[in-house]
Amino acid sequence: MKSYIVGNWKLNFNVGEASIYLHKLQKKIPNYRDVEVVVAPTALCLQPLSLQLDRTKIKLAAQNAFYNDFGAYTGEISFAELNGLVNYCIIGHSERRYIFHEDDKMIAKKVAACIRNKITPILCIGEIESERAFGETKDVIHDQLVGGLSEVSAEDIDKVIVAYEPVWAISSTKDAKPATPDEIAEVVEMIRQNLKEIYGAKTADAVPVLFGGSVKPTNAGAYLTVPGISGLLIGGASLILEQFTDIIETAKRVSK
Ligand code: PGA
Repeated sequence: MKSYIVGNWKLNFNVGEASIYLHKLQKKIPNYRDVEVVVAPTALCLQPLSLQLDRTKIKLAAQNAFYNDFGAYTGEISFAELNGLVNYCIIGHSERRYIFHEDDKMIAKKVAACIRNKITPILCIGEIESERAFGETKDVIHDQLVGGLSEVSAEDIDKVIVAYEPVWAISSTKDAKPATPDEIAEVVEMIRQNLKEIYGAKTADAVPVLFGGSVKPTNAGAYLTVPGISGLLIGGASLILEQFTDIIETAKRVSK
């Protein structure tokens, strides 16, 4: 299975900065066929970056969109508009859940809208620190996964990527603490078990599961070799070209 290295730029880099970064990144990395390199800039950057994108090396992801394709929804952009522009979209990131109050129902509609518009959703799930402390991780993972996938049929589940991002490990969380490979392995097992129960064993194994939360060049190798992990979703370190390319090269080495 190929591995995925996804840079979530969040609300960073204006069009000029994003364009310069992409130019340098494309110069720095070859076409690693077994590593899918993806960057998720702000919505405003997608169109200009698509014009300079070397699609043999890098793919674009959106960070969010609205679930209806068109209509009276002031201020929104739709997955229908993103169709053809991006290959992926991050859905249900914890910042969308907790700052913008997205619930599993809304997230499920967004996942369905992605698939309808030929965009691969990267469905983010993960518990907050207090949920882990109270032994609720298993339930939270189950509910967010089942909730987010509630509109995805068995025929379409191979068009979905899941990302496990424990909120307590995300670098912008107060007192963030990097997860250990064992902690990640335990939750990946829960995710695969849930997928198995809904879609059957064969399909469950085919769904890529990424990890995200304080990923750095120093821990990327350990995270990429956690059983069941197919890649990384990277925030802070993806904004630093040297760190992001270092992680991409680690993924290449590990995938050999
Ligand atoms: P981080 O962010 O790598 O800065 O922890 C990850 C994410 O929020 O997707």
